[in-house]
Amino acid sequence: MADQEFDTRSFRDALGNFATGVTVVTAKGEDGTLVGVTANSFTSVSMEPPLVLWNLDRSSPSLKVLENASHFCVHILAEAQKDLCMKFAKSGDDKFNGVEYTEGLGGVPMFDGCLAQFECRSVARHDGGDHVIIVGEVERFHNTEGEPLIFFRGQLGDLALIPKAG
Ligand SMILES: Cc1cc2nc3c(=O)[nH]c(=O)nc-3n(C[C@H](O)[C@H](O)[C@H](O)COP(=O)(O)O)c2cc1C
Repeated sequence: MADQEFDTRSFRDALGNFATGVTVVTAKGEDGTLVGVTANSFTSVSMEPPLVLWNLDRSSPSLKVLENASHFCVHILAEAQKDLCMKFAKSGDDKFNGVEYTEGLGGVPMFDGCLAQFECRSVARHDGGDHVIIVGEVERFHNTEGEPLIFFRGQLGDLALIPKAG
């Protein structure tokens, strides 16, 4: 790739072939500010200790709170939560308007209807180019069953988004 022109559009398209679930990561700032960001960069890291990570754009208005918060919660979205996904995929101060939530560890806002929730203590931040890699140790989690929301080739939908081979 070194002597080829690096085509960012093609790079994005290639990355889009990695089908993922969708999460919303929430946290509470020291001043009480609530933040929530839609993220598909979530992944598991370690079983012992139980670690997960996700990546946040350095230009995010939510960066300051998420980098400094003692805790964050990762919500794995159900297929029925597309509206919630879109709500937290935009910048704004009113993201929690009309969203029912309870408080988890560290006062983190948590909402229902997800397939799983991971309440994490923020344990490390790493340089990830134009993103920050945020690592959390899972202190508590909740798990249910249901249809996942899927992100594939820039589209949101259910599992039928992913074409069958043949
Ligand atoms: C399906 C999907 C996945 C996304 N994944 C990420 C991600 O992993 N990291 C990130 O920083 N932004 C991601 N975004 C974009 C953010 O959700 C978006 O920039 C949002 O405005 C961030 O909130 P903020 O503006 O309050 O920081 C994703 C958006 C969508 C729709």
